[in-house]
Amino acid sequence: MDQIIIRGGRALSGQIPIAGAKNACLTLMPATLLSDEPLTLTNAPRLSDIRTMTELLGSLGAEVSSLQDGKVLALSSHNIDNHTADYDIVRKMRASILVLGPMLARDGHAVVSLPGGCAIGARPVDLHLQALEAMGADLELRDGYVHAKAPSEGLKGAVVEFPMVSVGATENALMAATLAKGTTVIKNAAREPEIVDLAHCLQKMGAHISGEGTSEITIEGVERLGGATHPVVTDRIELGTYMLTPAITDGEVELLGGRLDLVSAFAEKLDAAGIAVTETDAGLKVSRKNGRIQAVDVVTEPFPGFPTDLQAQIMALLCTADGTSVLEEKIFENRFMHAPELIRMGASIDVQGGTATVTGVERLKGAPVMATDLRASVSLILAALAAEGETVVSRVYHLDRGYERVEEKLRACGADIERVNT
Ligand code: EPZ
Repeated sequence: MDQIIIRGGRALSGQIPIAGAKNACLTLMPATLLSDEPLTLTNAPRLSDIRTMTELLGSLGAEVSSLQDGKVLALSSHNIDNHTADYDIVRKMRASILVLGPMLARDGHAVVSLPGGCAIGARPVDLHLQALEAMGADLELRDGYVHAKAPSEGLKGAVVEFPMVSVGATENALMAATLAKGTTVIKNAAREPEIVDLAHCLQKMGAHISGEGTSEITIEGVERLGGATHPVVTDRIELGTYMLTPAITDGEVELLGGRLDLVSAFAEKLDAAGIAVTETDAGLKVSRKNGRIQAVDVVTEPFPGFPTDLQAQIMALLCTADGTSVLEEKIFENRFMHAPELIRMGASIDVQGGTATVTGVERLKGAPVMATDLRASVSLILAALAAEGETVVSRVYHLDRGYERVEEKLRACGADIERVNT
C-alpha cells in the first residue's frame, strides 16, 4: 500500500487548481440511468470514487467513457440489462445507493445492496427508502439488499418531508421525482451546492424542477428525459482543504477556480482565526493576516452551515492556534478518528462524544500516522506540512478517493512531499 512522506516546516506559496466536485459527480453520473440519451459531464475529477461509480454503472449495462485524461465522462444508458447493484461494489462506496432512485423511476424495478456503515458512522439509508415509498414504490429488505418495485403505472408524485436533512436522500428523491407522474414536493431538502448542480443538470435533460438550493424543492414529473452536457461544479471541500495549506504553513496560495459562495461559512471561520481570504480574477487567495492563528469554535451543520467534510481539516489548523477551540460534530457520530493521530504528532485534543476540545500547542512534530477515512487522511497531511520533522502517512488509498494528485498539487507550492509504494 502507498505511503506519503512529508518533511514539514516549509511555507507554501503558489497556485493550486481546484477540480470538479467528487460529491456532485457521484450523483450526476447515476442521472444517466434516467434517460436513454447521452449524458456528458465535463470538469470531472480524477478520483478512485469516480472509477468505482464507473464500474458500478458498467455492471448495470451503462456505457461510461473517460475522455481527456478523465476530465470528461461520456455516459449512455440506452442498454441497461442488469438492475442489481452488487454488494461487492456498493460496499466500497456508499454513494452507490444513488442508482436506486433513477433505476426505479425509469425501469420500474431495482435491487441495490444496502451500503453498510463506514468508518464515520452507521449511515443508514432509511430516508432514501422513505422518499421512494412515498412515491408508491414497494420496497423489501432481503439478504442485505433493497428489492424495489414501482407501481405498474410508474412512480407517482408525492409530498416527501424529511425528519432530518440528508444530502443523499434528497438526491435520490429528486432524481426519482423527475419521471414520477404528477408533482413531488421535497420538504426539509438538503441545500448543498451539489444538489443545485444536480438540479441544473436534470433541468438541461428536460426535468421541471424549482426551489433547488432552498429547503423545499418542487418537481413536476415528465414522460421522459433527454441527454445533456454539464460541467461538474467546483469541489468546495477540496477548495476548503487547500485554503488551509497557506494558513497552516504561513504562506500564500491562490486557489484557481475557487468560489467564495461555495465556502462562505468556512471562510468566515478562517477570518475569525486570523486568515485573510481574498477574491481574485482566477479564484481565491489565502494567507495569514498577522502571523498567529486564533482559536475558534466550530459546529458542523448542513449547508449553508460549516461543512462536516471540513471539520477534520480545520482541527489540524487549530492544533497550533493561540487558545482553546471547541469543535462539535453534529452530522456524523464518529468523525474524530483523526484526533488520536494528531495527538501522536503532539496535539492536545480531548474528545468527549461529539465534542472535541483542542488546546493549541506551539508546534506539532512529525510522526508515523494512519489514515482512517477520506477527510481524516487529508487532515494529517495538513498537520504534517507544518510539523517539525518527517511524517509518514499510511493507508493513503483513503486520500485518493477524494483528492486528485495531492502530492503533485502540494509539491508545486513548495512542499517536501513524496509518495512511496510499499
Ligand atoms: C453526503 O453523504 C456526502 N457524500 C458526505 O461526504 C457528506 O459528509 C454528507 O453528505 C453530509 O454533507 C456524498 O455526497 C457522496 P447525509 P450522505 O445523508 O448523503 C444520516 C465525503 O467525505 N442519515 O446528508 O451519506 C447520516 O447517517 C463524504 O466526501 C440517516 O440517518 O450524508 C448522517 O448522520 C463523507 N438516514 C446524516 O443523516 C438516511 O437515510 C447526514 O447524512 C440518510 C442519512
